[in-house]
Amino acid sequence: MSRPPNVTVVGSINLDLVIRCEHLPAPGETVIAESSREIPGGKGANQAVAASRAGGNVTMIGRVGDDAIAQQLLDNLARHRIQIGRVLKCENSASGIAVVAVESSGQNSILVVPGANALVTVEDVDDAREIIRGSDIVLLQLEIPLSAVLRAIEIADDANIPVILDPAPMPANLPTQILRVNTVCPNQSEASAIVGYPVNSILDAHRAVKDLVSIGARRAIVTMSERGAVVHDGQASHWIEPFPVQAIDTTAAGDAFAAALAVQIARGATILDAARFAAAAGAITATRIGAQPALPTLEEIEQKLDPINQSHPDRGVH
Ligand code: RIB
Repeated sequence: MSRPPNVTVVGSINLDLVIRCEHLPAPGETVIAESSREIPGGKGANQAVAASRAGGNVTMIGRVGDDAIAQQLLDNLARHRIQIGRVLKCENSASGIAVVAVESSGQNSILVVPGANALVTVEDVDDAREIIRGSDIVLLQLEIPLSAVLRAIEIADDANIPVILDPAPMPANLPTQILRVNTVCPNQSEASAIVGYPVNSILDAHRAVKDLVSIGARRAIVTMSERGAVVHDGQASHWIEPFPVQAIDTTAAGDAFAAALAVQIARGATILDAARFAAAAGAITATRIGAQPALPTLEEIEQKLDPINQSHPDRGVH
């Protein structure tokens, strides 16, 4: 494909209050933190920005509130060249916010107050039907009502548009029909919640991707942070090696993975090549603070994949 792939993201838009601390508080514990910063986030918006930086032509479908931060969130998406004509402003509603606590090891814990994200409706998705039909790929997560996600899958299926589902955050009762998509890419804990057994080792992940495919996903990937990822391409499972990095904040690493995966699949890459590209995007994201400021550009991902040829463009050309 010579033009940028059209990527439609249906999902959440948040403002993150990012708090850095030495260690995350245990229940009942008070921890004095080091700093706080407001950063645009939300799994949907993060994936939209990541897909745009990776070279996609992105349209976002979602909702913000009518509070002071709504315009800030919309301007931020527009600055990243994301089409926001189908992001609705809800009256009498707050925009989504998240409190993201990050400890010095890079691990985080996140509390989300969905606000307007919880008000995304099936009708919002129906009204954007033509945009979905004109996409090369549709990218979904679970931070908006499941009914809206399911409707996006139906519309995409009817038009034979591939869907990538990042099943995060995992709801209490995930309808299995939601997994009947082109590619599903949970992390270990989400995979474990779906398959019903712990996914701790690479061996467990090989079993889990196979089970995800038998539940109905055409292809499945379990992301495993510093241990890489395990991919089932519909025939067999494969381990994708990690890119060794010094992780300082893993926020949005999964979002970067899902978005980069979507862009590469839309460009026609094989699932294994797309997963390697996505693993590079996720690894870079973990080396930087915050959600959207951490997301890599296409050049940065290519450099990570092939550091020698990218820094010496004449090498390898004969
Ligand atoms: O995936 C990271 C995101 O989860 C954060 O940006 C936060 O807003 C929550 O949605």
